[in-house]
Order: sequence, then structure tokens, then C-alpha cells
Amino acid sequence: MSIETKSIFDEVPQRYQTDSQKWQKYEGQDILPMWVADMDFKAPAPVLDALHERIDHGIFGYARPEKSTVDAVLEMLERNYNWKVQKEWLVWLPGLVVGLNVASNAFLAPGESVLTNTPIYPPFMLGPKFQSRAVSKAPMVLDGGRWVIDWDAMEKAITPDTKLFLLCNPHNPCARVFDRSELESILEFCEKHDLLCCSDEIHCELLLDGRKHTPIATLSEDASKRVFTFIAPSKTYNLAGLGCSIAIIPDASLRNRFNAATRGIVAEVNNLGYTACEAAYRHGDQWRNELLDYLAGNRDLIHNFIKNETPQASVYQHEATYLSWINVEKLGLADPVAHFESHGLGLSDGSFFGDKNHVRMNFGCPRSTLQEGLNRFKKAIESIS
Ligand SMILES: Cc1ncc(COP(=O)(O)O)c(C=O)c1O
Repeated sequence: MSIETKSIFDEVPQRYQTDSQKWQKYEGQDILPMWVADMDFKAPAPVLDALHERIDHGIFGYARPEKSTVDAVLEMLERNYNWKVQKEWLVWLPGLVVGLNVASNAFLAPGESVLTNTPIYPPFMLGPKFQSRAVSKAPMVLDGGRWVIDWDAMEKAITPDTKLFLLCNPHNPCARVFDRSELESILEFCEKHDLLCCSDEIHCELLLDGRKHTPIATLSEDASKRVFTFIAPSKTYNLAGLGCSIAIIPDASLRNRFNAATRGIVAEVNNLGYTACEAAYRHGDQWRNELLDYLAGNRDLIHNFIKNETPQASVYQHEATYLSWINVEKLGLADPVAHFESHGLGLSDGSFFGDKNHVRMNFGCPRSTLQEGLNRFKKAIESIS
């Protein structure tokens, strides 16, 4: 008889009535929410301890990060990526969707455009659009089950007005981690066309199977002049609701333009966000390593399930994130998300990411929840025919 050790991630939390967007969406209906990208896991214990202590202090005035918080970020970047970032380069933001909007506004004149690879996290297209800037799209292509950049599509998509490339690495929703040679090609492309590069690396601490992340800004001297990088503890440590994110902008003139576009519009990060950020980056590694093992197990469960139980759907090489990009084209559904919802499963709609033949499943949840979601996925598929 084998005794299975329970993981802390197996605990199923109750998330109704906790201001959760994910769970409110289907409240009162028997629909399991596996859409927006936060996890059904408690944050690491050292983060909770730090937050309790901060709350016990009882005063929550206008905030500014302590030196120890800034140091925690810089130390994490050096420890994990051998990246020596200076404190002046950090711009604190209440969210990176904010950052995508600010960047579009700060670095593009009216009439200028951004370039990005589709499918893509929707705010990469919506941010520029909200700022009345155009978006050129270069669809990714498949290379043996892995999504890669299509360089012909990139050359075709570029126009004389394109000034900014929006990179998502690791990629949401394609779950790719671009390797060094791919990043070098991206940088060469940006140099050739004189583009700034906004590298959204919010998922960079969610690499599975021992993979290593390379911040594109670290590749060369030129990179540090044209690249600015977005990071946050929010995805990895499940802190999205605390709104604490960081833009790393080494070039002073770019940083000044970015900061100028935030003034009077972008709210400051709150006290609890700073507290959680410092604790996560200082004391979160052990929890994160356990999380990555658990997520890899969930990823394997989805891949095996789809292969064996629902071969009408298919998945791709999955290297990072807790978001699975599932091809449902063969099901021939006019509205896949509505169909899965009617069978008790709430997924993200691929059409918002630029591909109506896919759905995105958030597997940042206890395995029993995931299994229930997969069972519903199968029933929904069996109901067609
Ligand atoms: C690539 C990417 N950037 C940004 C965000 C959201 O960032 P924030 O919550 O800081 O606005 C997400 C959330 O899923 C994401 O996947």
C-alpha cells in the first residue's frame, strides 16, 4: 500500500466572497472558473507573516518602497539572472497592464504603431488601442509542437511607423520560454528596424522542468539602451490583487519619458504590495520550487488527459506558466467558451488572444480541481456529435 504525501497545493480553498474576479464571474452557477490568471493557492507563509505584521502596525499612509524592498528586488535579479540592476532603473507600478498602456503612450507619437506576436495576452493589443496607437501583428508558427517566431511574418508586419516591439517572455498563452539564440534574433531585428523593445517577463519565475530564464535586456550593451523589462511577484507568488509591479528601464531618457506619462494618472503602489513583494523575493524560493513541481505535475495531467481521453483537442510544448493553450478547432464549435460553460467549465476565450480556435485553461489550482475541470472538458466534448 502506498501512502501519498499531500502537498500544500492540494488544499482546496473557498474563494467566494473574497473579492475574487475569477470566482465572482460564475457565482451561483455550477461553472468551475479556470480563466483569469491567478492561482487557487495561498501565498507563501513568509509573505503572509510579513503582511500580518504590517497590518498589525495599523497605519496605511501614502507609500514609498523602503531601501530593503528595493534591495530585495535587486538581489533577486542578481541571484536568479546574474543581472546587476541599479536602483534608479526601477519604476514601481500598480500593474503591468498599466505599464503596457503607459509605454504605448510614452514612446509612440500619434500615427506610430507597436508590433507584437499573436496569439498574445489581450492587453498587448488593447493597451496600444486604448492609447489610440495601431498594432501590427506577426502570428507565431509551429515548429514541431513548439510555437516560434515567424521571421517572414515579422518583416511583413513591420511598417515605417512601427517603433516598439512588445515581447512576452515567457509567452502567454503559448507557454514558450525563448532561448538565448531566439532572443538574440529578436534583438537583431529590433536593432535593424530601430525599435524599442518592451519585454514583459511577468512569468519569468514560472519556468518548468528546470529551464532557465534569460532577461533579453542582459544580452548586450545595446539591449540595455532599447529594452525595458516588466517584472512582478504577482503571478509567481499569487499576489495579483496587491498591485505591485516593476518596470526596469536602464536608459535615463526612456525612463524620464515613461515616468512623465504616468504623472497624475497612475496610482502609487500600496503599502501591502511593497511588503508582500519584499517577503516574496527574499523568502519565497522554497515555496516557489515546490509550486513549480506541482505545476509541472498539473501540466502533465492535462497533456496526458488530452492525449488519452480527448484526442479531438490538442496541446503544445509547455515550458512555463500555469496557462494551457488548447486547440479545439476540430470540435467545429462556433463559440467554444460558451459550449464549455454550458458544461460547467469556465475557460478563457482564444479569440481575445487573436485565435478563435483555442481556449486557455488556467491550471494554477489543486489537482482535484483540475481533474474535475478535465472531466467537465471531456463531457463537453462527448456531447458534440
Ligand atoms: C504577460 C502578462 N502581462 C501582464 C499581466 C497582468 O499584469 P498586472 O496584473 O500587473 O496588470 C499578465 C496577466 O496575466 C500577463 O500574462
